[in-house]
Amino acid sequence: MNVYDSELVGSLLNKSGYYATKNIKSADVIFLNTCAIREKAEETVYNKLDSLQSLKKNNPSLLLGVLGCMAQNLKNEILESKPFVDVVLGPDSYRKIPEIINNRNNSMDHYVDTKLSKFEVYDDILPSRKNGINAWISIMRGCDKFCSFCIVPFTRGRERSRSIDSIKFEVIKAVQQGFVEITLLGQNVNSYRTLNGNFTNLLEEIAQIDGIKRIRYTSPHPQDIDEDLVRIMNKYNNICNHIHLPLQSGSDRILKRMNRTYTKQEFLSLVEMIRHIIPDCTLSTDIIVGFPGETEDEFEETLEVMNKVSFNLAYMFKYSSRPGTKASEYSDQIPEVIKQKRLEMLINIQREITIIENQKHIGKTIDVLVEKESKRSIKKWTGRSEGNMCVIFDKIGTNIKDIVKVKVKSAHGVTMFGEPVKLLERKKNEAA
Ligand code: 5AD
Ligand code: SF4
Repeated sequence: MNVYDSELVGSLLNKSGYYATKNIKSADVIFLNTCAIREKAEETVYNKLDSLQSLKKNNPSLLLGVLGCMAQNLKNEILESKPFVDVVLGPDSYRKIPEIINNRNNSMDHYVDTKLSKFEVYDDILPSRKNGINAWISIMRGCDKFCSFCIVPFTRGRERSRSIDSIKFEVIKAVQQGFVEITLLGQNVNSYRTLNGNFTNLLEEIAQIDGIKRIRYTSPHPQDIDEDLVRIMNKYNNICNHIHLPLQSGSDRILKRMNRTYTKQEFLSLVEMIRHIIPDCTLSTDIIVGFPGETEDEFEETLEVMNKVSFNLAYMFKYSSRPGTKASEYSDQIPEVIKQKRLEMLINIQREITIIENQKHIGKTIDVLVEKESKRSIKKWTGRSEGNMCVIFDKIGTNIKDIVKVKVKSAHGVTMFGEPVKLLERKKNEAA
């Protein structure tokens, strides 16, 4: 989402006559687009600001701004501890950028705007995208779910959806620009809802636009995934058979405390429903360890669900207390050493599961979208499977952005290695 928002900001800056420079020392304006989801993300920004302070000393007219979730959440702390920061703008205030730039020579001190909007979706601004394979397209903003650990509802505000027409317009533009993959984005992507349709309706409309080779979406909430959505995914070839399904925890007591609105059994039934309709659907997930009060047994339950589901990939985090959220007020916070131990255990188990899942593909032919030359060899491409796994194979007669049929030969770590079916056929003919 921050990549997309940075592209929006880039577009607003272009309109004001400013263009990106590769040399930060020559910049007239520097904006850091920030994340507040975990404490570590915030530390990174504070460190980055310290390193930018010297640029500001050398060039006092440099305009330095902090944008996004951390700006929204910590504006006072930023202004107090980093008084050299000129601009602080929350995620709904980017339209102010041209005005700030135009007034930059006036003797304004700081410019701060962190008002959240119930309506802002930036649907009339086309982001300035660098050429590439995948175009991120935001379809909704904000979140109303209020998971007790999460700062997003406070930094991004209430849920609101863009019109289907403005999304389609942006998708068509992206295709004209040469993008072949579209990833629909939202803090809570499948809560998308307008008078003209819900997320499933939108997905179906996007799937029918000519020229899109692949469609992905992220991040959904398990509560909002239903059979209709999965059936539409199955109906259209260009919608990837992959779902990111954040589990967070495998314990009913912790899920309730997290305000996740589903039980372990409901989550497992959802997985069953998905696999019944799309047997080869890959699944990834998010998991938090060390949520306040999580006992050893409750952590074991998470491991049990992971083993049962056998996710292809998992993003795993130590719980990070976010001031202002409900969970940060719980008195039974878990010590850092225990969180670390649980995280390491989880990572090791998931590593094994990912290898096992990837090895299941050995001998099978999968569709790979070519992204770039492999770092391992100039004779090889690296691309992605529908499940978003990295696949490396010989280039022969194929190009970037092609979808190539590749027979998987081996799998190591998170990467699969294979040979294009065309090459195998040629070898077979030569042998005959
Ligand atoms: N601590 C750790 N992880 C978190 N996430 C969200 N908030 C926190 C937090 N306070 C994780 C969740 C979410 C992902 C985007 O980030 O797993 O799905
Ligand atoms: Fe945060 Fe996602 Fe929960 Fe919304 S649904 S509160 S973004 S974890």
